[in-house]
Parts: sequence; C-alpha cells; structure tokens
Amino acid sequence: MLASCLSPEGVVMKVLIIPGSARPTTAGTELVRFIEAELAAHEGVSVDVATLDDMTLPFVDSPIVPAFDGYTITHDAVQKWTDKVDEADAFVFVVPEYNGGMTGLQKNAIDWVYKQWNGKSAVVVTYNWYDKKSAVEVFQNTLRVIQVNIIEPVVGLKFGEELAPDGAVADESALRAKIQHAVSALFAAERAEV
Ligand SMILES: Cc1cc2nc3c(=O)[nH]c(=O)nc-3n(C[C@H](O)[C@H](O)[C@H](O)COP(=O)(O)O)c2cc1C
Repeated sequence: MLASCLSPEGVVMKVLIIPGSARPTTAGTELVRFIEAELAAHEGVSVDVATLDDMTLPFVDSPIVPAFDGYTITHDAVQKWTDKVDEADAFVFVVPEYNGGMTGLQKNAIDWVYKQWNGKSAVVVTYNWYDKKSAVEVFQNTLRVIQVNIIEPVVGLKFGEELAPDGAVADESALRAKIQHAVSALFAAERAEV
C-alpha cells in the first residue's frame, strides 16, 4: 500500500473531509464518521474533518479575487481555513443537495481559497432524494475551476437506499463498497503522483 512512502512521523497522506451542512440535524453525521473510519483504517493516512459551521467564515468580501496576484488574507478565520486546505494532500467533499447544487456554506468555503486547492485530488460523496447526482454537475464544474482532480466514480447516495431519511446508514455493505472503491481510486491517483 502506501507504507513504502511513509514519512518519519508515519504519515504519508493527509486527507481533509469537508462536510457541507450547517444544520444541527444534518443527515451527514453518520456518513462522515463512516468515511473517516474507512480512511483511518489505512496505514499512512491521517484524517481531519473540517467543521465549516464552527469556522464562521465571512462571505467572500476580498477586494482582490483569491485566485489573483496581490490577494491578501485579512480575516483570521480565513487564514485558519486556508492553512487547513494547504496542509491537506487530498479531500473528501460530503455534498448534501440543496436545490440542485451544493450548500452555500460549502461554496463560500471553496471560494475563499484558490492556489491551495490546485493540483490536489478529491473524492466527492453526495446524497439526495432522487437521482444521487444532481448536485454533482454543479460541484464538478467548481472543482474543475479550482483545478482539483475529481476522483471517479463520484459516490452518489440516495435516501431510502444506502441512507435512511435521517442519515443513518441503511445499507452498510453497499455504502462500504462505494466508499472503498472511491478511496482506492484516490490512493491510486496519489501513488501515480509520487
Ligand atoms: C435548502 C434545502 C434544499 C434542498 N434541496 C434538495 C434538492 O434539491 N434535492 C434533494 O434531493 N433534496 C433536497 N433537500 C433535502 C435534503 O436532501 C435533505 O434535507 C438532507 O438531509 C440535507 O442534508 P443535511 O441534512 O446534511 O443538511 C433540500 C434541503 C434543504 C435544507
């Protein structure tokens, strides 16, 4: 596996999970724990979960676009968030579908950062009621613009199938198979870069 590339600290790959919901009753809680456990089971992988709702990022109000030369960070919360993205080697975006797209919370957090995303890979896990993928079209477009390599296949989950309506895992083996497939593809992409 990745053990051949282990650093002296024993960590080879830092993965940041980025959930999209700020709702206290989010259906993503159990799913995020599940993904975290699947990743942490691999030697040489360290996992962190971004709590965007606690970070109190302002809406983007920078006079200079974050992707442009001359952009400087003036908010402490934005600096902390940028550092977190910078430290990560790869990402797992957990994307609830809100009106056919990602949440405003997730989009705003993405928009605050540019070069710290560039050239890294991301697994996308999305859930909705209908087709497991409507939010993905919007999301994939955004990831392309920030130059994040999207790991295929995107993990599409549906309430009433893999997840119960409250977000509890309803079909553990189906969920595990999908997450493991995506995680393996992420590791393969990371290995190809070494
Ligand atoms: C503002 C809002 C918009 C939503 N839009 C959609 C939608 O377009 N498609 C869908 O399948 N579910 C939609 N839902 C239902 C969500 O899929 C469901 O509430 C889910 O639990 C939201 O994720 P969360 O619990 O992690 O916040 C929407 C929910 C909210 C709060």
